[in-house]
Amino acid sequence: MSARRALITGITGQDGSYLAEFLLDQGYEVHGMVRRSSTEKFDRIEHLRNRVTLHQGDLLDQRSLVDTLRASQPDEIYNLAAMSFVAASWVQPTLTAEFSGTGVTRMLEAMREACPEARFYQASSSEMFGKVLEVPQTETTPFYPRSPYGVAKVYGHFITVNYRESYELHASSGILFNHESPRRGLEFVTRKITWHAAAIKLGLETELRLGNLDAERDWGFAGDYVRAMWLMLQQDEPSDFVVATGVSHSVRDCVEVAFGHVGLALDDHVVLDPSYLRPAEVEHLIGDASKAKRVLGWAPEVSFEQLIRMMVDADVALLARDPAARLPRGQ
Ligand code: NAP
Ligand code: GDD
Repeated sequence: MSARRALITGITGQDGSYLAEFLLDQGYEVHGMVRRSSTEKFDRIEHLRNRVTLHQGDLLDQRSLVDTLRASQPDEIYNLAAMSFVAASWVQPTLTAEFSGTGVTRMLEAMREACPEARFYQASSSEMFGKVLEVPQTETTPFYPRSPYGVAKVYGHFITVNYRESYELHASSGILFNHESPRRGLEFVTRKITWHAAAIKLGLETELRLGNLDAERDWGFAGDYVRAMWLMLQQDEPSDFVVATGVSHSVRDCVEVAFGHVGLALDDHVVLDPSYLRPAEVEHLIGDASKAKRVLGWAPEVSFEQLIRMMVDADVALLARDPAARLPRGQ
Protein backbone atom coordinates (compact mmCIF):
# COMPACT_ATOMS: atom_id res chain seq x y z
CA MET A 1 0.00 0.00 0.00
CA SER A 2 1.38 3.47 -0.86
CA ALA A 3 2.01 5.96 1.95
CA ARG A 4 -0.69 8.45 2.83
CA ARG A 5 0.13 11.96 1.65
CA ALA A 6 -0.18 15.13 3.71
CA LEU A 7 0.25 18.76 2.69
CA ILE A 8 1.19 21.29 5.36
CA THR A 9 0.86 25.02 4.65
CA GLY A 10 3.07 26.92 7.10
CA ILE A 11 5.54 24.03 7.29
CA THR A 12 8.38 26.46 8.12
CA GLY A 13 6.56 27.65 11.26
CA GLN A 14 6.66 26.26 14.79
CA ASP A 15 3.67 23.93 14.41
CA GLY A 16 4.47 23.00 10.81
CA SER A 17 7.87 21.66 11.80
CA TYR A 18 6.51 19.54 14.67
CA LEU A 19 3.63 18.28 12.54
CA ALA A 20 5.99 17.32 9.69
CA GLU A 21 8.11 15.29 12.14
CA PHE A 22 5.02 13.64 13.58
CA LEU A 23 3.57 12.70 10.18
CA LEU A 24 6.91 11.35 8.91
CA ASP A 25 7.04 9.16 12.03
CA GLN A 26 3.54 7.90 11.12
CA GLY A 27 4.81 6.88 7.67
CA TYR A 28 3.26 9.75 5.67
CA GLU A 29 4.68 11.23 2.50
CA VAL A 30 4.92 14.85 3.62
CA HIS A 31 4.58 17.88 1.35
CA GLY A 32 4.93 21.48 2.47
CA MET A 33 3.99 24.81 0.98
CA VAL A 34 6.56 27.60 1.32
CA ARG A 35 6.65 31.24 0.29
CA ARG A 36 9.30 32.57 -1.98
CA SER A 37 11.75 34.83 -0.21
CA SER A 38 15.01 36.48 -1.27
CA THR A 39 16.69 34.72 1.66
CA GLU A 40 15.63 31.15 2.30
CA LYS A 41 14.88 30.69 6.00
CA PHE A 42 13.98 27.11 6.69
CA ASP A 43 15.77 26.72 10.06
CA ARG A 44 12.96 24.77 11.72
CA ILE A 45 12.80 22.15 8.96
CA GLU A 46 16.48 22.04 7.98
CA HIS A 47 16.81 18.57 9.54
CA LEU A 48 13.84 17.33 7.44
CA ARG A 49 14.77 18.88 4.09
CA ASN A 50 15.57 15.60 2.33
CA ARG A 51 12.46 13.90 3.74
CA VAL A 52 9.77 16.39 2.66
CA THR A 53 8.74 17.78 -0.73
CA LEU A 54 8.38 21.56 -0.85
CA HIS A 55 6.09 23.49 -3.19
CA GLN A 56 6.13 27.22 -3.73
CA GLY A 57 2.84 28.90 -2.91
CA ASP A 58 1.28 31.80 -1.09
CA LEU A 59 -2.09 32.20 0.63
CA LEU A 60 -2.58 35.36 -1.41
CA ASP A 61 -2.22 33.55 -4.74
CA GLN A 62 -5.03 31.22 -5.80
CA ARG A 63 -3.15 29.76 -8.79
CA SER A 64 -0.25 28.65 -6.58
CA LEU A 65 -2.61 26.97 -4.10
CA VAL A 66 -4.36 24.95 -6.80
CA ASP A 67 -1.03 23.99 -8.37
CA THR A 68 0.37 22.95 -4.97
CA LEU A 69 -2.62 20.69 -4.33
CA ARG A 70 -2.53 19.22 -7.84
CA ALA A 71 1.18 18.45 -7.49
CA SER A 72 0.98 16.95 -4.00
CA GLN A 73 -2.42 15.16 -4.30
CA PRO A 74 -2.83 15.08 -0.51
CA ASP A 75 -5.13 12.83 1.49
CA GLU A 76 -4.87 15.35 4.33
CA ILE A 77 -4.38 19.12 4.21
CA TYR A 78 -3.20 21.00 7.31
CA ASN A 79 -3.75 24.73 6.82
CA LEU A 80 -1.35 26.21 9.37
CA ALA A 81 -0.09 29.18 7.37
CA ALA A 82 -1.13 32.57 8.75
CA MET A 83 0.15 35.87 10.08
CA SER A 84 0.24 34.54 13.64
CA PHE A 85 1.58 37.40 15.79
CA VAL A 86 -1.39 39.18 17.40
CA ALA A 87 0.46 42.45 18.11
CA ALA A 88 1.44 42.82 14.44
CA SER A 89 -2.19 42.50 13.36
CA TRP A 90 -2.89 46.11 14.43
CA VAL A 91 0.05 47.25 12.27
CA GLN A 92 -1.10 45.29 9.18
CA PRO A 93 -4.83 44.70 9.71
CA THR A 94 -5.93 44.19 6.13
CA LEU A 95 -2.95 41.99 5.24
CA THR A 96 -3.75 39.92 8.34
CA ALA A 97 -7.33 39.54 7.08
CA GLU A 98 -6.02 38.44 3.67
CA PHE A 99 -3.62 35.83 5.12
CA SER A 100 -5.49 34.53 8.14
CA GLY A 101 -9.09 35.11 6.98
CA THR A 102 -9.65 35.14 3.20
CA GLY A 103 -6.60 32.89 2.75
CA VAL A 104 -8.66 30.08 4.29
CA THR A 105 -11.35 30.50 1.63
CA ARG A 106 -8.68 30.37 -1.06
CA MET A 107 -7.37 27.10 0.38
CA LEU A 108 -10.87 25.62 0.58
CA GLU A 109 -11.65 26.70 -2.99
CA ALA A 110 -8.36 25.17 -4.17
CA MET A 111 -9.31 21.96 -2.37
CA ARG A 112 -12.75 21.88 -4.00
CA GLU A 113 -11.08 22.23 -7.38
CA ALA A 114 -8.08 19.91 -6.96
CA CYS A 115 -8.89 17.31 -4.28
CA PRO A 116 -12.42 17.53 -2.80
CA GLU A 117 -12.09 14.08 -1.21
CA ALA A 118 -9.13 15.15 0.95
CA ARG A 119 -9.51 15.98 4.65
CA PHE A 120 -8.89 19.55 5.77
CA TYR A 121 -7.63 20.96 9.08
CA GLN A 122 -7.98 24.68 9.85
CA ALA A 123 -5.75 26.26 12.50
CA SER A 124 -8.31 28.21 14.51
CA SER A 125 -7.40 29.94 17.74
CA SER A 126 -8.44 30.65 21.32
CA GLU A 127 -7.80 34.30 20.41
CA MET A 128 -11.32 34.12 18.89
CA PHE A 129 -12.75 34.01 22.45
CA GLY A 130 -11.05 37.34 23.23
CA LYS A 131 -13.06 39.12 25.89
CA VAL A 132 -14.37 35.82 27.14
CA LEU A 133 -18.11 35.26 27.50
CA GLU A 134 -17.73 31.99 29.42
CA VAL A 135 -15.10 30.35 31.67
CA PRO A 136 -13.66 27.90 30.75
CA GLN A 137 -14.10 28.17 26.96
CA THR A 138 -15.57 25.25 24.98
CA GLU A 139 -16.62 24.62 21.38
CA THR A 140 -19.94 26.33 22.10
CA THR A 141 -18.62 29.47 23.81
CA PRO A 142 -19.51 32.53 21.67
CA PHE A 143 -16.60 34.43 20.12
CA TYR A 144 -15.66 38.03 21.04
CA PRO A 145 -12.33 38.67 19.26
CA ARG A 146 -10.18 41.57 20.48
CA SER A 147 -7.64 41.97 17.68
CA PRO A 148 -7.62 42.13 13.87
CA TYR A 149 -5.95 38.70 14.08
CA GLY A 150 -8.78 37.33 16.23
CA VAL A 151 -11.40 38.74 13.85
CA ALA A 152 -9.62 37.18 10.85
CA LYS A 153 -9.47 33.81 12.64
CA VAL A 154 -13.22 33.94 13.36
CA TYR A 155 -13.78 34.37 9.62
CA GLY A 156 -11.41 31.46 8.89
CA HIS A 157 -13.23 29.31 11.43
CA PHE A 158 -16.71 29.99 10.13
CA ILE A 159 -15.78 29.66 6.45
CA THR A 160 -14.43 26.20 7.32
CA VAL A 161 -17.71 25.31 9.04
CA ASN A 162 -19.63 26.79 6.13
CA TYR A 163 -17.75 24.83 3.45
CA ARG A 164 -18.22 21.66 5.47
CA GLU A 165 -21.97 22.27 5.56
CA SER A 166 -22.29 23.67 2.00
CA TYR A 167 -20.16 21.16 0.10
CA GLU A 168 -19.87 18.24 2.52
CA LEU A 169 -16.11 18.63 2.74
CA HIS A 170 -14.28 16.75 5.48
CA ALA A 171 -13.16 20.02 7.08
CA SER A 172 -12.35 20.33 10.79
CA SER A 173 -11.34 23.31 12.86
CA GLY A 174 -8.98 23.02 15.83
CA ILE A 175 -9.52 25.81 18.35
CA LEU A 176 -6.06 25.64 19.83
CA PHE A 177 -5.02 27.53 22.93
CA ASN A 178 -1.49 28.95 23.15
CA HIS A 179 1.19 26.37 22.56
CA GLU A 180 4.90 26.93 22.74
CA SER A 181 8.26 25.20 22.33
CA PRO A 182 11.95 25.93 21.90
CA ARG A 183 11.01 26.63 18.24
CA ARG A 184 8.56 29.41 19.16
CA GLY A 185 9.14 32.73 17.40
CA LEU A 186 11.22 35.14 19.48
CA GLU A 187 8.51 37.82 19.62
CA PHE A 188 5.96 35.68 21.51
CA VAL A 189 5.99 36.28 25.24
CA THR A 190 7.07 32.83 26.50
CA ARG A 191 10.08 32.65 24.17
CA LYS A 192 10.96 36.29 24.83
CA ILE A 193 11.02 35.45 28.54
CA THR A 194 12.99 32.20 28.24
CA TRP A 195 15.49 33.81 25.81
CA HIS A 196 16.06 36.70 28.25
CA ALA A 197 16.36 34.35 31.24
CA ALA A 198 19.16 32.59 29.36
CA ALA A 199 20.78 35.81 28.07
CA ILE A 200 20.76 37.49 31.50
CA LYS A 201 22.11 34.34 33.13
CA LEU A 202 24.98 34.26 30.59
CA GLY A 203 25.73 37.96 31.08
CA LEU A 204 24.61 38.93 27.55
CA GLU A 205 21.66 41.09 28.67
CA THR A 206 20.66 42.88 31.88
CA GLU A 207 16.92 43.51 31.58
CA LEU A 208 13.67 42.18 30.13
CA ARG A 209 11.07 44.73 28.97
CA LEU A 210 7.48 43.48 29.04
CA GLY A 211 3.93 44.79 28.74
CA ASN A 212 0.98 43.32 30.63
CA LEU A 213 2.28 40.93 33.30
CA ASP A 214 -1.24 40.06 34.47
CA ALA A 215 -2.53 38.55 31.20
CA GLU A 216 -3.35 34.88 31.68
CA ARG A 217 -3.03 32.12 29.09
CA ASP A 218 -3.60 28.38 28.93
CA TRP A 219 -0.12 27.38 27.68
CA GLY A 220 0.72 23.90 26.36
CA PHE A 221 3.52 22.22 24.38
CA ALA A 222 3.35 22.41 20.56
CA GLY A 223 4.51 18.79 20.23
CA ASP A 224 1.38 17.65 22.12
CA TYR A 225 -0.92 19.89 20.06
CA VAL A 226 0.07 18.68 16.58
CA ARG A 227 -0.99 15.18 17.68
CA ALA A 228 -4.50 16.57 18.26
CA MET A 229 -4.55 18.07 14.73
CA TRP A 230 -3.79 14.68 13.24
CA LEU A 231 -6.35 12.88 15.43
CA MET A 232 -9.06 15.27 14.17
CA LEU A 233 -8.46 14.15 10.58
CA GLN A 234 -8.62 10.46 11.54
CA GLN A 235 -12.29 10.79 12.59
CA ASP A 236 -15.10 9.60 10.31
CA GLU A 237 -16.99 12.84 10.92
CA PRO A 238 -15.38 16.29 10.67
CA SER A 239 -15.96 18.57 13.65
CA ASP A 240 -14.52 21.38 15.78
CA PHE A 241 -12.38 20.77 18.84
CA VAL A 242 -10.94 22.90 21.64
CA VAL A 243 -7.36 21.84 22.44
CA ALA A 244 -6.06 23.14 25.76
CA THR A 245 -4.50 22.04 29.06
CA GLY A 246 -7.28 23.41 31.30
CA VAL A 247 -4.68 25.26 33.42
CA SER A 248 -4.05 28.99 33.18
CA HIS A 249 -1.00 31.04 34.23
CA SER A 250 -0.11 34.71 34.11
CA VAL A 251 2.81 36.24 32.21
CA ARG A 252 4.27 36.97 35.67
CA ASP A 253 4.09 33.23 36.55
CA CYS A 254 5.94 32.48 33.33
CA VAL A 255 8.76 34.92 34.26
CA GLU A 256 8.96 33.42 37.75
CA VAL A 257 9.30 29.84 36.49
CA ALA A 258 11.84 30.80 33.78
CA PHE A 259 13.95 33.09 35.96
CA GLY A 260 13.69 30.76 38.96
CA HIS A 261 15.05 27.94 36.82
CA VAL A 262 18.35 29.82 36.33
CA GLY A 263 18.47 31.42 39.79
CA LEU A 264 17.35 34.95 38.80
CA ALA A 265 14.74 37.18 40.51
CA LEU A 266 12.00 38.92 38.49
CA ASP A 267 12.27 42.20 40.43
CA ASP A 268 15.97 42.58 39.58
CA HIS A 269 15.52 42.50 35.81
CA VAL A 270 11.93 43.03 34.56
CA VAL A 271 11.02 46.53 33.36
CA LEU A 272 7.41 47.43 32.52
CA ASP A 273 7.33 49.00 29.07
CA PRO A 274 4.02 50.55 27.92
CA SER A 275 5.04 50.15 24.28
CA TYR A 276 4.28 46.42 24.64
CA LEU A 277 0.68 47.05 25.77
CA ARG A 278 -1.94 46.26 23.11
CA PRO A 279 -4.78 48.54 21.94
CA ALA A 280 -7.20 45.89 23.25
CA GLU A 281 -6.10 43.00 25.45
CA VAL A 282 -7.23 39.42 25.99
CA GLU A 283 -6.94 39.19 29.76
CA HIS A 284 -7.75 35.60 30.54
CA LEU A 285 -7.97 32.38 28.54
CA ILE A 286 -8.59 28.89 29.85
CA GLY A 287 -9.88 26.02 27.74
CA ASP A 288 -12.01 22.98 28.41
CA ALA A 289 -10.74 20.17 26.13
CA SER A 290 -13.28 17.56 27.34
CA LYS A 291 -14.55 16.92 23.80
CA ALA A 292 -11.00 16.29 22.49
CA LYS A 293 -10.38 13.92 25.40
CA ARG A 294 -13.66 12.07 24.87
CA VAL A 295 -13.75 11.84 21.06
CA LEU A 296 -10.06 11.91 20.11
CA GLY A 297 -8.57 10.32 23.23
CA TRP A 298 -6.20 13.32 23.37
CA ALA A 299 -4.50 14.64 26.51
CA PRO A 300 -1.48 16.90 26.96
CA GLU A 301 1.70 15.28 28.28
CA VAL A 302 3.92 18.27 29.10
CA SER A 303 3.03 20.60 32.01
CA PHE A 304 3.49 24.38 32.00
CA GLU A 305 6.51 24.20 34.32
CA GLN A 306 8.16 21.44 32.24
CA LEU A 307 7.51 23.45 29.07
CA ILE A 308 9.06 26.68 30.34
CA ARG A 309 12.08 24.90 31.81
CA MET A 310 12.56 23.01 28.51
CA MET A 311 12.54 26.35 26.66
CA VAL A 312 14.99 27.99 29.08
CA ASP A 313 17.37 25.02 28.81
CA ALA A 314 17.20 25.19 25.01
CA ASP A 315 17.90 28.96 25.04
CA VAL A 316 20.83 28.55 27.44
CA ALA A 317 22.28 25.91 25.10
CA LEU A 318 21.61 28.10 22.03
CA LEU A 319 23.24 31.22 23.47
CA ALA A 320 26.17 29.34 25.02
CA ARG A 321 26.85 27.93 21.56
CA ASP A 322 26.16 31.14 19.66
CA PRO A 323 26.10 34.32 21.78
CA ALA A 324 25.31 36.26 18.59
CA ALA A 325 21.88 34.57 18.31
CA ARG A 326 20.28 37.81 19.45
CA LEU A 327 16.72 39.05 19.43
CA PRO A 328 15.62 41.27 16.55
CA ARG A 329 15.47 44.94 17.63
CA GLY A 330 12.41 46.04 19.58
CA GLN A 331 11.23 42.62 20.80
P1 NAP B 1 4.24 30.56 12.95
O1 NAP B 1 5.41 29.92 13.61
O2 NAP B 1 4.17 32.05 12.89
O3 NAP B 1 4.18 29.99 11.43
C1 NAP B 1 3.34 30.58 10.48
C2 NAP B 1 3.61 29.93 9.13
O4 NAP B 1 2.75 30.52 8.14
C3 NAP B 1 5.05 30.12 8.61
O5 NAP B 1 5.46 28.93 7.99
C4 NAP B 1 4.87 31.23 7.56
O6 NAP B 1 5.85 31.18 6.55
C5 NAP B 1 3.52 30.85 6.98
N1 NAP B 1 2.88 31.94 6.25
C6 NAP B 1 2.56 33.18 6.72
N2 NAP B 1 1.97 33.89 5.76
C7 NAP B 1 1.92 33.11 4.64
C8 NAP B 1 1.43 33.28 3.32
N3 NAP B 1 0.88 34.46 2.92
N4 NAP B 1 1.51 32.25 2.46
C9 NAP B 1 2.09 31.10 2.83
N5 NAP B 1 2.58 30.86 4.07
C10 NAP B 1 2.50 31.87 4.95
O7 NAP B 1 2.88 30.05 13.59
P2 NAP B 1 2.59 28.75 14.50
O8 NAP B 1 2.75 29.10 15.91
O9 NAP B 1 3.29 27.59 13.93
O10 NAP B 1 1.01 28.61 14.27
C11 NAP B 1 0.49 27.81 13.20
C12 NAP B 1 -0.96 28.19 12.95
O11 NAP B 1 -1.72 27.97 14.12
C13 NAP B 1 -1.19 29.66 12.59
O12 NAP B 1 -2.29 29.70 11.70
C14 NAP B 1 -1.59 30.29 13.91
O13 NAP B 1 -2.35 31.46 13.70
C15 NAP B 1 -2.38 29.16 14.52
N6 NAP B 1 -2.42 29.12 15.99
C16 NAP B 1 -1.26 29.12 16.70
C17 NAP B 1 -1.32 29.00 18.08
C18 NAP B 1 -0.07 29.00 18.91
O14 NAP B 1 -0.17 29.22 20.12
N7 NAP B 1 1.08 28.71 18.33
C19 NAP B 1 -2.57 28.90 18.73
C20 NAP B 1 -3.72 28.87 17.95
C21 NAP B 1 -3.64 28.97 16.57
P3 NAP B 1 7.24 32.02 6.63
O15 NAP B 1 8.19 31.09 7.36
O16 NAP B 1 7.58 32.23 5.22
O17 NAP B 1 6.96 33.27 7.41
N1 GDD C 1 4.43 39.19 22.71
C1 GDD C 1 4.45 39.82 23.86
N2 GDD C 1 5.53 40.60 24.19
N3 GDD C 1 3.40 39.65 24.70
C2 GDD C 1 3.46 40.28 25.90
C3 GDD C 1 4.53 41.08 26.29
C4 GDD C 1 5.62 41.27 25.40
O1 GDD C 1 6.59 41.95 25.66
N4 GDD C 1 4.28 41.54 27.55
C5 GDD C 1 3.10 41.03 27.93
N5 GDD C 1 2.58 40.28 26.93
C6 GDD C 1 1.27 39.60 26.92
C7 GDD C 1 0.39 39.96 25.74
O2 GDD C 1 -0.22 41.25 25.94
C8 GDD C 1 -0.60 38.80 25.77
O3 GDD C 1 -1.64 39.07 26.68
C9 GDD C 1 0.24 37.62 26.30
O4 GDD C 1 1.45 38.20 26.81
C10 GDD C 1 0.57 36.56 25.26
O5 GDD C 1 1.11 37.19 24.13
P1 GDD C 1 1.77 36.36 22.92
O6 GDD C 1 2.79 35.42 23.43
O7 GDD C 1 2.20 37.34 21.88
O8 GDD C 1 0.57 35.43 22.41
P2 GDD C 1 -0.97 35.71 22.11
O9 GDD C 1 -1.78 35.07 23.20
O10 GDD C 1 -1.21 37.13 21.82
O11 GDD C 1 -1.18 34.92 20.74
C11 GDD C 1 -0.70 33.57 20.58
O12 GDD C 1 -1.69 32.66 20.98
C12 GDD C 1 -2.89 32.67 20.18
C13 GDD C 1 -3.85 31.63 20.79
O13 GDD C 1 -4.53 32.19 21.86
C14 GDD C 1 -0.31 33.40 19.11
O14 GDD C 1 0.35 32.15 18.97
C15 GDD C 1 -1.52 33.38 18.21
O15 GDD C 1 -1.13 33.02 16.87
C16 GDD C 1 -2.51 32.33 18.75
O16 GDD C 1 -3.66 32.27 17.94
